[in-house]
This record gives sequence, structure tokens and C-alpha cells, in this order.
Amino acid sequence: MDPQTAFDTVLAGPEPPLALAPMQDVTHLPFWRIMARHDGADLYFTEYMRVHSVSKPERWIVDSITQNPTGRPVIVQIIGNDVPSILRTIPLLRALPIAAIDLNLGCPAPVVYKKCAGGGLLRQLPLVDSLLGAMRDAIPGRFTVKTRIGFDDPVTDALIPLLQKHRPDLVTVHGRTVLEMYRGGIHYDHIRAIADALPCPVLANGNVSTPASAEQTLRQTGARGLMIGRGAIRNPWIFQQIRHHRAGRPVPLPSGRDVLAYIHELWEETWHADATGATHVHSMKRYMNFIGAGITGDGQFLDRIRRAPSQEEFFTICRDYLDHPDPMPLDPPPALVQTGACGSNHKAQAASPALT
Ligand SMILES: Cc1cc2nc3c(=O)[nH]c(=O)nc-3n(C[C@H](O)[C@H](O)[C@H](O)COP(=O)(O)O)c2cc1C
Repeated sequence: MDPQTAFDTVLAGPEPPLALAPMQDVTHLPFWRIMARHDGADLYFTEYMRVHSVSKPERWIVDSITQNPTGRPVIVQIIGNDVPSILRTIPLLRALPIAAIDLNLGCPAPVVYKKCAGGGLLRQLPLVDSLLGAMRDAIPGRFTVKTRIGFDDPVTDALIPLLQKHRPDLVTVHGRTVLEMYRGGIHYDHIRAIADALPCPVLANGNVSTPASAEQTLRQTGARGLMIGRGAIRNPWIFQQIRHHRAGRPVPLPSGRDVLAYIHELWEETWHADATGATHVHSMKRYMNFIGAGITGDGQFLDRIRRAPSQEEFFTICRDYLDHPDPMPLDPPPALVQTGACGSNHKAQAASPALT
């Protein structure tokens, strides 16, 4: 089945489609391989690809697309605000085996939004109008949008007519403003307003970390499906658990040893030729910051992992907490979720893409 037909089939299926969120430095080939082994998502978004006057499709993102190990449709996400650069890039992307091209209207990193890209575009709705119009005209296939609900205050009332006008094939709504970053609750009412107003399917996004929170999000938003980010790093079984729950089957909970095996998988999949034990311990922190919140709610595990100087010490700590057969819910305590403390310092905050 070609990727676009596979995309249409997923969205038209009887069950809510479940997407893995785009996450910079995370949702690349090694992570997708692990997700696929855990009966992962129905749809996969790449991390954002920067588009500006001299950009070329980033090699590692192209590799994830051409070597897609998931057997599921892949949507490539772009971030930028320059119409000619986007128009130059679209044919390059359409030559790849993608299901759709997605525009990022949500990145909350100051270096991005101050250049009026990502979430910064929600302060410039006339520019959003031009971008959506140009992309719709240039993409005969599937075109999708991932947005937050506003910059400082919600702008859903003004955004909805633009989305209606340019007819994206799928819209994902992260139910927070840009300035809310990853903190606080989700504004389900704004996701619902968008889902009710659009003819296309909407995916609700934000804080889904258990089958119960998945059901609650679907109920409160009326969305067609869900997108899950941090919850899937913490718990790669989340998609399978949601499917079991909806089918009325017992929800499989991983044991401590299953979580330990997952950490080993991450270690091995992301190992590269230039790595040493110590450098790889450091790079594993991008996953452990999320995983840790599901292991001990008091931050003890994470404190020790952050100070681990070597591979040996890293795995000794992991075994201290996880070498057991007991079930692990991997759900962070509500207090951590509300403050955004369970892995919110997304690297984009420090990155400096040359966005126009
Ligand atoms: C490490 C990290 C990287 C992210 N990178 C992107 C990105 O490249 N593009 C994007 O649209 N959103 C990005 N996001 C936001 C997520 O896609 C998602 O909207 C957000 O994490 C809320 O969903 P969650 O509560 O399920 O994690 C990123 C989030 C995190 C934590």
C-alpha cells in the first residue's frame, strides 16, 4: 500500500488513530525501530525539518523516512516561515516515501518563536494564512498542521477560519499556548472547538500517559485520535495498552525487568561508532529525563542517573531500581505533570536553527 493510502486507511479506521509525536533528537530511526518492536503508533511524525533560504532536507531525517522500519505511514514535519523556501522544499520531500507534509505552528523554543517560526507564527495569523494557502496549493497529496492553541492567549476563534479555508487533511492540536510550554493542564475545550469546526480529523495532544488519560482526552475533546510524545518515551507500551483497554482486554503492564530491557535497547540502538561509555551515558539522558519520572516520583532515580559517570555505574543504578518482576505503571505523579517537570526541557530551547 502506498504511504498516502495507508494514511487515509488509518484515519478512516474504526479505532482512534494513535500517532507518535514529533520530538527533536528523539523520533529518529533508532527510536522508531524500538517503537515498532513494541507494537507502537499507527502514524509517525518526523522531528521538525528546518526550512529557510539555504536549507536542504536534513540527512538523518531523510534516512528515517527512506529506511522507515515501522511499516506505518510517515509524515514529515517542516518548520519555517518563508514561502519561497517552503515551495522549493516541497518537491524534494514529495520525492520521498512520505504520507504527508506537516507544518509546525507550535514550537515554544524562544530561539524559534522569536524568529516568527513554530509557535511564533500564532502571533502573525496573516502569515499563517499565506503559508497554509501556499502549502495547500503546492501539495496535491496530504497536507497536515500541528498547532498550539495560541501564543500567550488562545487564538482558536481566529485560527479556525484559516484552517477551514485551507483544508488541511489532518490537524493536531497541542492544547496549550506557546508560553505555557509544557506546564499546567490541557485546554480540552479549545481542542474540542477546533475538532468540532473542521471537516478533517483532529488529533488531540498533551499529557496522555495512560489508557485512562487517553479515554479522558478523547471524551473531553471529541477528537478523532491522539498524538503521544513524552508518554511514549517513558512507556513504549502505551499504544498497545490503549488498544487493549479499548478492546476490553486486560492492560499489559511491563515489569521492572521489561523497563530495564527497554533501557538496554535504547542504549544499543543509539550507540554509534564515536561513542564511549561515558559519552553515551550523557546522550542517554535525553531519554532518561523522561523515563525517570515514571520510575520514582520523588526524583531519586533521576538524581542518581544524572550523576552517573560511567556505563557501569549507569547500569548499576538501573538494576538497583528495575531488576524485579513487579509491574510498572510508568505514569508520572500528577504533581510532576502539572509543573511540566517530567521531561520538559526540550532541546530546541537551546538550539539555534537559521530560520528566516
Ligand atoms: C524532546 C521534545 C522534542 C520535541 N520536538 C518537537 C518537534 O520537533 N516538533 C513538534 O511539533 N513538536 C515537538 N515537541 C512537542 C511534542 O510533539 C508534543 O506536542 C508535546 O510534547 C506534548 O505532547 P505530550 O504531552 O504527549 O508529550 C517536542 C517535545 C519534546 C518533549
